[in-house]
Amino acid sequence: MATSFPDGFLWGASTSAYQIEGAVKEDGRGPSIWDTFSHLPGNSLGEDTGDVACDHYHRWPEDVALMRELGIGAYRLSTAWPRILPEGSGKSNAKGLEFYDRLVDAIMAAGIEPWICLYHWDLPQTLEYRGGWQNRDVASWFADYAAVTVRRLGDRVKHWATFNEPNAASVKGYGEGDHAPGIRGRMTALKAVHVMNLAHGLGVAAMRSERADLLLGNIYNFHPREPASEREQDEIAATMLDALWNRSSPDPQIHGTYPEPLAAEIEPLVQPGDPDIIRQKLDYFAFNHYTRTRVRHDPDHPFEVGTLPPPPGTPVTEMGWEIAPDAFRSVMIEAKERYSGDLPIYILENGAAFSDRIDADGRIRDEQRIAYLRGYLGAVQDAIAAGVPVRGYFVWSLLDNFEWALGYSKRFGLVHVDFGTLERRPKDSFHFYSELAHGATFERE
Ligand code: FCB
Repeated sequence: MATSFPDGFLWGASTSAYQIEGAVKEDGRGPSIWDTFSHLPGNSLGEDTGDVACDHYHRWPEDVALMRELGIGAYRLSTAWPRILPEGSGKSNAKGLEFYDRLVDAIMAAGIEPWICLYHWDLPQTLEYRGGWQNRDVASWFADYAAVTVRRLGDRVKHWATFNEPNAASVKGYGEGDHAPGIRGRMTALKAVHVMNLAHGLGVAAMRSERADLLLGNIYNFHPREPASEREQDEIAATMLDALWNRSSPDPQIHGTYPEPLAAEIEPLVQPGDPDIIRQKLDYFAFNHYTRTRVRHDPDHPFEVGTLPPPPGTPVTEMGWEIAPDAFRSVMIEAKERYSGDLPIYILENGAAFSDRIDADGRIRDEQRIAYLRGYLGAVQDAIAAGVPVRGYFVWSLLDNFEWALGYSKRFGLVHVDFGTLERRPKDSFHFYSELAHGATFERE
């Protein structure tokens, strides 16, 4: 069935600094928690690190040319805090700011709107030594970093996000410990949740006082969590993980309160005035979405929650993530009902990893990725038809890149990257997406 997206629908692609830039020691960049973490044995698959990644720091002209060819209207990048403020606070690094300055100009010269996310998980290591996201002062330093960056780029960049998936950064980084800085615990995770929320609030206020014409938001991650069985323990676990993963940032940021069943436990961390700092008016509502999971009771997890793989026979991506476009449609509808009201909604990440093969003729026929995108874009159309104001969709990702603890083993790009030679090669999905971005009608499955 041939359909189309609304006029003005924004087609985008997303990446993040640590996952693509490389050049970790160049031009005065300081180390981040991901440099430290990925260099410790056993933390990332194959002992991979972001030292070189896609070498985007040097190859950005080629990457901007690919973006132009792709035909996207917007490109979401993140700035690396340790490139801009190598010590985390204090003196800024002229060369770091110049890099983003040039990049932003080049993206705009290609007719593409740059969207910036300030925190995609690469906290300056110096700040981790001072307690990292356990330390409330880090929230104020984040606001200083936001102000410095906006002062330099805010004349051209209009869309800003404070955090990418603060839930993942706090739960995986300070709760489960499989992401940097590798801390496992329950109170540590809750403290990180709260301090990141404060940082969001202080960051938004700081950016607004720098410039009145910015459009500000946060990038949540919505991941439906269903109980694995009707056992009470599994239902309790699902409610807990839903609160922790899906609600612990947007609830206080939009409504000013922490969700049950976490509210009482977080309460001692909340100082007078905090809820008003955290709850700021936003200009758009953004989130990432990939999949849904079933949750069971797991006594060994800090929050006594565990997830089950999808039942045998369920379609999954190379991450083992269930392919379930219907869940995506429900998430968009629920986001509007719960949080976004009349705000425009942007999907700032969605996509899939598959093990791509380069055929003898040099082509990468990634039909599974195309099928995934078709299904999920169909869900976007369904949500729009149901009255959800989804104004744009950004695919994850432009390039294959460093997939955190999974290193280079999982490829999400529309463009294949050979991590030996760093050669870029557009996949069939690149051409599929490019046609949509250039206004072609959309063939639903
Ligand atoms: C998201 C992250 C992004 C990437 C994708 C696959 O949670 O924001 O950096 O790792 O998952």
